[in-house]
Amino acid sequence: MAQVRKRDSWGSRLGIIMAVAGSAIGLGNFLRFPAKAATNGGGAFMIPYFVSLFLLGIPLMWIEWTLGRYGGGFGHGTAPGIFHSVWQKNRFIKYFGIIGIFGPLVIFIYYTYIECWTLAYSFFALTGKYSHLADQAAMKSFLSGFQGLEYNQYFSGLKAAYVFFLITFVINITVIYYGIKGGIERLCKWAMPLLFVFGFVLLLRVITLGAPDASRPGWNIANGFGFLWNADFSSLRSAKVWLEAAGQIFFTLSVGIGVILTYASYLSKGDDVVLSGLTAASTNEFAEVILGSSIVIPAAFVFFGASDMRSIAGSGVFNLGFVTMPLVLNKLPWSAIMGFMWFGLLFLAGITSSVSLAQPAVAFLEDEFDISRKKAVAIFAAIAFVLCQAPIFFLKNGVVDELDFWGGTFFLVLFATIETILFAWVFGMEKAWDEIHRGADMAVPKIYKFIIKYITPLFLLFILGMWLWQEWLPIIFMKNIANGDKIYILATRLGLLGIFAVLAILVKIAWRRKRLLEEKVR
Ligand code: ALA
Repeated sequence: MAQVRKRDSWGSRLGIIMAVAGSAIGLGNFLRFPAKAATNGGGAFMIPYFVSLFLLGIPLMWIEWTLGRYGGGFGHGTAPGIFHSVWQKNRFIKYFGIIGIFGPLVIFIYYTYIECWTLAYSFFALTGKYSHLADQAAMKSFLSGFQGLEYNQYFSGLKAAYVFFLITFVINITVIYYGIKGGIERLCKWAMPLLFVFGFVLLLRVITLGAPDASRPGWNIANGFGFLWNADFSSLRSAKVWLEAAGQIFFTLSVGIGVILTYASYLSKGDDVVLSGLTAASTNEFAEVILGSSIVIPAAFVFFGASDMRSIAGSGVFNLGFVTMPLVLNKLPWSAIMGFMWFGLLFLAGITSSVSLAQPAVAFLEDEFDISRKKAVAIFAAIAFVLCQAPIFFLKNGVVDELDFWGGTFFLVLFATIETILFAWVFGMEKAWDEIHRGADMAVPKIYKFIIKYITPLFLLFILGMWLWQEWLPIIFMKNIANGDKIYILATRLGLLGIFAVLAILVKIAWRRKRLLEEKVR
């Protein structure tokens, strides 16, 4: 066997738990989750949500922590090498692993841009740039101007957005440049506690809102929580609600992406994965179900009432976060500080996720081509910078939604299905069970042996099947895309195909290079 190069490592157990929780806690917790819950049955949504958490999220979390640590032992931090270590006899499995580099890279391309809006808005909050705006139309126009979707009195072009994008991009690259311990772990160790401080302050502010406008009976905080949580059990008959819940679990826990594999590959062989994985997942669930649900929707209800809320909740996560929430905060005392905290919270949630999305591509270059971290980060930065231009300049043509569908939705489920089958059926459940428990601080409940082997893969295959059946043809033929945008969507798809092909060629070159090196040693 070729000599395994010394790889980066985590400084402490708390460090990796914070980093994985940081990767998981993101914009999905504070914007995507409340919008999904409010529009998919309220309290009833929590049934498919928790079913998905226990049958998909938690098992996949353990699978990825375990596979990552296992692959790291062979010097691999990304799925091509990790999958190859699990199934050495199969020549093709490493190519399936490409998804674990491709997916996070694609998400990184648009996620970083959205993250830069949060940085910009926290600056705008402090400087009072939007403090005079008092209704949805004005605030929406402010956002559209900032995004370059229209020229208006607030912005003339993308200049401001581009400056904040550059700052955000440079911060991300700097963190990755300093490595696992010196960069990512160091960032997460202060960013995560600060995120929770901001979250708790906002939560306290929201639950003490009471009924600010006595002339509007019923517009109070209790009814705000009621609006979100009153259960509509009839929603459970819709397959879409179940798919939405499963999709949310994937996105929020960052499973099926490839980032946890990479993070766990920097563990040592005897490090616990059972309790650490569970702790990171529970931290994410706390941030999502308790904090995420208690800020935007209840606060907006108090100021906009039940009938407007229905359209607000369904108007998309960007409107909730960047239009409704600043309007709500504008109406409160200390609005500049509150706005800064809200967007600061989103920025911290975003950056601790985006650095994790960058790491697989960097780790791939380091591990499979034996190049230094600095060089790997420089190559990544140059390529990612070019790719990031697409969502910035073609947001209005639906490029972000397209990238999100492939990188942030479809490939997640496909990748998770491959991982689970590989783990439970190729590696073998007995061996897998021993591997999970190596160095474990607690035992996984026995029932999970059955769940991981049968239920999780069947559930995943069911989701994939439903998707293909319900959505495949309209998506392939761009049925819901405006005619003028079709060319941009086609270009995006060709671009994605190109990225995938380049990664496949790189995998081929890396393995050939390794074979030649091994032959030389012999
Ligand atoms: N898990 C990250 C989020 O929730 C990607 O935003």
